[in-house]
Amino acid sequence: MMPDNHSAIPARGTGPMPRDGRLDATLALKRDPYGYIRKQSERLGSDVFQSRILLQRTICLTGPRAAELFYDHARFMRKGAAPMRLQATLFGRGGVQALDDTAHAVRKHMFMSLMTPARIDALGELFDEQWGLAARRWALAPKVELYREVREVLTRAVCRWAGVPLAEDEVALRTQQLSAMFDLAGAAGPSHWFSRYSRFRAQQWCGGLVERIRAGQVEVPTDTAAHTVAHHVDADGKRLDARTAAVELLNVLRPTVAIAVYIVQEAHALHAFPACRKPLLDDADGRHAGWFAQEVRRFYPFFPATVARVRKDFDWQGCHFPAGRRVMLDLYGTNHDHRAWEEPLRFRPERFADWRENPFTLVPQGGGNAATGHRCPGEWITLELMKRAARWLAGGMDYEVPPQDMTLDMARLPAVPKSGFVIAVRGA
Ligand code: HEM
Repeated sequence: MMPDNHSAIPARGTGPMPRDGRLDATLALKRDPYGYIRKQSERLGSDVFQSRILLQRTICLTGPRAAELFYDHARFMRKGAAPMRLQATLFGRGGVQALDDTAHAVRKHMFMSLMTPARIDALGELFDEQWGLAARRWALAPKVELYREVREVLTRAVCRWAGVPLAEDEVALRTQQLSAMFDLAGAAGPSHWFSRYSRFRAQQWCGGLVERIRAGQVEVPTDTAAHTVAHHVDADGKRLDARTAAVELLNVLRPTVAIAVYIVQEAHALHAFPACRKPLLDDADGRHAGWFAQEVRRFYPFFPATVARVRKDFDWQGCHFPAGRRVMLDLYGTNHDHRAWEEPLRFRPERFADWRENPFTLVPQGGGNAATGHRCPGEWITLELMKRAARWLAGGMDYEVPPQDMTLDMARLPAVPKSGFVIAVRGA
């Protein structure tokens, strides 16, 4: 077994902080978003190095010790950290991602309050119901693209769960808008502008719903996200303005639809590593499905990195971190760090059988503590839906995988199989 305690893993390198000598590394990062930080860090022999990204000096960090540092909010803050193009597409402006201190704690509590076991189970049930209905439709077609189809299943399930009314003739449009915010956020040219436009339209949709809930024109159950966001009282003692409320409601809908990325990667894993299928079939207590979901999140690429800014000057490992400097933590590289993971490039769900939870070695959805820091509040939802999808994909549905180009495009964000994973469903 590898060391389970991240503190036992020493950080690599000591100051002064080495530099990636390029004038600007934006292009290198764009070409290799999942590998840039790890490869430079190995070349420079340090878990910390200075780079220049999007014309801004940026400190890059990788590995469990660096992750532990990054989640120390006395040292880092999020205000002004995310690049504008991600705010205009993926995150929206005024959302929890860019808040700090009390403002963050109060807003984050709103998200955490939605994540009770009963509510997570309710979403799981809706997901299974929608998958079952969809699988019968899929069986009528010669083949379907799983990535596209699962996004629709998730849109239907999460809207019902969140108290967001969704008419049948609206499903395709809302699926497209929710998808474009994460699937095209990293794109260039017209696709990027489509992603921005989709956010604009989706915010109008959710903002309008919040206003109608407040005016008593739409009634939604009190335990739903729509109700919670509409009536949330923020740190300033006021309700959120409709635009910010829309951003936060979309912070529930959009990432839940994005679980389609992991689900398609699960399908890819079952195909690429067929030995993983059998344990999922004899899995009465769901343990194997849990390990499989964790290994997919560890092994496959999704979010390459996350960003913050230095709050005030400090030194770490002999390296100086000046106030205001942007810092980027390598999530993908930390999930593959050989100091924390034995044979990190091997797909092996059983590694989670004796894994003691560690908040800084497995960081696909951020690290540290979700309640007090910026770690993703949606991890339980993600794992629950991934476990259910694994059961459908391993044995709940009879399907074939026709020949196709399922190479993972590692220059694309998020990196899904090129074909979108095409299947021919025979029965469900
Ligand atoms: C699809 C799988 C998901 C992935 C890969 C993912 C990944 C992440 C990452 C990397 C962060 C940033 C962590 C940081 O900056 O330190 C994050 C934050 C966040 N995620 Fe997720 N997430 C997923 C699913 C979800 C779900 C299902 C929800 C809600 C239902 C959600 C809601 C959020 C919110 C609100 C934040 C901001 C938290 C904060 O700033 O305090 N995510 N997620």
